[in-house]
Amino acid sequence: MLGPVILAASRSDRMRRLISAAPVTKQVVDRFIPGETVDEILPIVRELTGNGLELTMDVVGEDITTREQAAAARDAYLELIGRLGPLELGTRAEMSVKLSMFGQALPGGHELALANVRPVVEAAAAIGTTVTLDAEDHTTLDSMFAIHEELRKDFPQTGCVIQAYLFRTGEDARRLAAAGSRVRLVKGAYKEPAEVAHQQKHEIDKAYVRILRTLMEGDGYPMIGSHDPRLISIAQELARTAGRKLDEYEFQMLYGIRGDEHLRLAAEGHRMRVYTAYGTDWYGYFMRRLAEKPANLGFFLRSMISH
Ligand code: FDA
Repeated sequence: MLGPVILAASRSDRMRRLISAAPVTKQVVDRFIPGETVDEILPIVRELTGNGLELTMDVVGEDITTREQAAAARDAYLELIGRLGPLELGTRAEMSVKLSMFGQALPGGHELALANVRPVVEAAAAIGTTVTLDAEDHTTLDSMFAIHEELRKDFPQTGCVIQAYLFRTGEDARRLAAAGSRVRLVKGAYKEPAEVAHQQKHEIDKAYVRILRTLMEGDGYPMIGSHDPRLISIAQELARTAGRKLDEYEFQMLYGIRGDEHLRLAAEGHRMRVYTAYGTDWYGYFMRRLAEKPANLGFFLRSMISH
């Protein structure tokens, strides 16, 4: 029951001010967002890749309110890509972006987000890597898929995310399970109404398996974004049945969650990509992590009380 309450708080400016200013929050946030600047995140990039893991990197931020903030978000990614270049990691370090951070919700936002994300995709391609478009709330998805399609004309390796909890996703998966496409399947992290999304965990899990089967049996490159042990073994089974080799799909998990499992899957020869977020505008990302596992809230509150 707590999850939806925390998700509602993730959109509240008052809560944002309160939590962002709490004296101990930073220590707790570090578990999920291990740095605020490029200088702080590069050692993590070296450590993870040194351990045989791959990364998808997120400069945290979303729901910006001015065109200047959208341009600043673009520039933050360009700075990151500029610093990743000399490390020569290629696709071992790709980017994940949220189009709301690039201005998607502003007037003329669809065109603005496309104009801001294109140079990021170009810069990523220039250092031999790529970008995946994260999926945000359901009202943003038609625009996200249209931008994805547009970017793929010049950069076919651009990926996107689909969310198992949405009723529309079976159809999106069938369209996207085509040669050359890269699709990350996740359960879905936003508060969505019953008209558009499954609300019960077991319904979401069943949908996840159905959609994953579509991706595995299709011709694209499936990226399994989940920490759920049951779904991970089902994914391995579906990959075997579909005759996929170990480099024809990958697992993805979030930094700070089930770190031992990242290493175990990599040691088994799987491609394992860690979604690594950094930056100062961490509130929305952090609150979604709390909502996914309300026990995290106890950890957070205890640290405030003991401070
Ligand atoms: P589930 O929530 O059932 O968790 C399974 C187990 O994992 C839990 O029992 C617990 O042990 C552990 N776990 C999960 N979340 C945890 C947490 N926050 N803290 C501690 N332990 C936790 N969503 C979205 O809407 N759009 C997107 O673009 C993305 N992108 C994305 C990328 C990647 C790489 C991942 C892994 C996830 C996303 N998500 C996302 C988030 C996703 O929708 C979902 O909310 C989380 O992955 C949690 O769901 P699980 O599949 O892990 O299962």
